Amino acid sequence: MQPRSYWLDSTGDPSLGRAEHPQEADVVVLGAGIAGITTAYLLKQAGMTVALIEADDRLAAGVTGHTTAKVTSQHGAMYATLTSSFGPDTARAYGAGQHLAIDWIETEAAAIGAEADLSRRDSYAYVEDESSVPGLRREAGAAAEAGLPAQFVTGTELPFPVAGAVRFTGQAQFHPRRWLLALAARIPGDGSEIVTGTRATGLTEGDPCVVETTSGPVRGRHVVVTTHYPIFDRGVFFARLEPRRDLVVAGPADPDDVPAGMYISTEDRHSIRTTPLDDGRVLVIVGGEPHRVGARTSVARHYDELHAWAQDRLPVREYRYRWLAHDLTTVDSLPYIGRFHPRTRNVWVATGFGHWGMTNGTLAGLLLRDLITGEENPLAGVFDPTRRTVRQSATEFVRANAYVAARLIGDRVDTLATRPGPAALRPGSGRVITAGTRAIAAYRDDEGSLHCLSARCTHLGCLVVFNDAERTWDCPCHASRFDTDGRVLSGPAVRPLPRVAPPE
Ligand code: FES
Repeated sequence: MQPRSYWLDSTGDPSLGRAEHPQEADVVVLGAGIAGITTAYLLKQAGMTVALIEADDRLAAGVTGHTTAKVTSQHGAMYATLTSSFGPDTARAYGAGQHLAIDWIETEAAAIGAEADLSRRDSYAYVEDESSVPGLRREAGAAAEAGLPAQFVTGTELPFPVAGAVRFTGQAQFHPRRWLLALAARIPGDGSEIVTGTRATGLTEGDPCVVETTSGPVRGRHVVVTTHYPIFDRGVFFARLEPRRDLVVAGPADPDDVPAGMYISTEDRHSIRTTPLDDGRVLVIVGGEPHRVGARTSVARHYDELHAWAQDRLPVREYRYRWLAHDLTTVDSLPYIGRFHPRTRNVWVATGFGHWGMTNGTLAGLLLRDLITGEENPLAGVFDPTRRTVRQSATEFVRANAYVAARLIGDRVDTLATRPGPAALRPGSGRVITAGTRAIAAYRDDEGSLHCLSARCTHLGCLVVFNDAERTWDCPCHASRFDTDGRVLSGPAVRPLPRVAPPE
């Protein structure tokens, strides 16, 4: 299997950015994933100038380029959870927001002629164990009460038996990168720019705000932070987001042999969908093996288990791609879309989309456009980052932060006193080793050279963990990721892990 996302592999990297970055814009948008590109596109349509700044050289190549890309309002057993925690009005508003996003994507794709393999499909949340059926029936009832096209069924097209499923009719799926590159192509011009390969390194709030970047400062009347995990965290988001990830494997099949719908298990989160290939076949995309980012576990072993599950359940001869899907969940399960912190008038944020970034990321663009242009939007309060339901979720808040506190102290780290030093590292492997007061992230490459970095994450100092499948250093606290030379792959960290001398 190629360790590469199909969404990236099947799209080029058109050069939409320019080498020289702009001095100012009405709105500076940080992060060119689905939320950032959609927000910038909509604000430009509303008559504003935008500067969309992306640290990567490519657009939609981070979290958005590594998703399963279901465009659906069915989010596992979300509606039963929201109804029991916060009441039916919140569940109804959440569902309405998702359908707003689906309908906007469909309408806009037709209007601009975007070729993004968009198609309407039914979506299913299923269980295999009879004991899970009552919970699924509750979800069907809560979703229907929230006004969604939900129905409990016992029959599906899956090639294995299920005990029951909730079907949502009329949902959608697409190729996320084709969609976003089509939107992004319409952003530059008339005072708006896309700047790639430029990392934002500082933010001074004011009127205008000033964003420091690796290419120089940019002024903006508004700043929107859509960097997955918010950088310049003024809203204490690091304490109320939990980084999770799922693994994905994908391989080609005959469309007649595999289900046409989109599926997710509410028991173990295995998910299945297809996307069309140019040769008439479909690519079957299978997700699963959810775990917290930076957990002390072998990611390679999780891939083996997902591959075995997929081979056992689906008629796919060969899985050719594998990638990691990263998500942030919030303490009350609702995204944070709105003001960055209670005292700001012109800095905005969108994050915490759970496992459902396609609709929530699109909804973020629609909401932020309205908030910035002063249009009333009845959904704004539900997603406001300072909302009451966040404060109601104190138990989740404490649980998430107890985990982070343990990682800051650095529990269960190998020491030279108890484990062999880096000399014993095999090519392709890495490990955190403490030597005296130093914590060293040691990696040996395939040629046998040793790469030693500080193991303290440059965000808030947690100890990073080696990811043996991707060969990256992942932070278990807030999911910053670094390559084996210390470069930031994803934030909230904005500074690399410093090189250090190997232990004696
Ligand atoms: Fe926050 Fe590493 S990402 S401490």
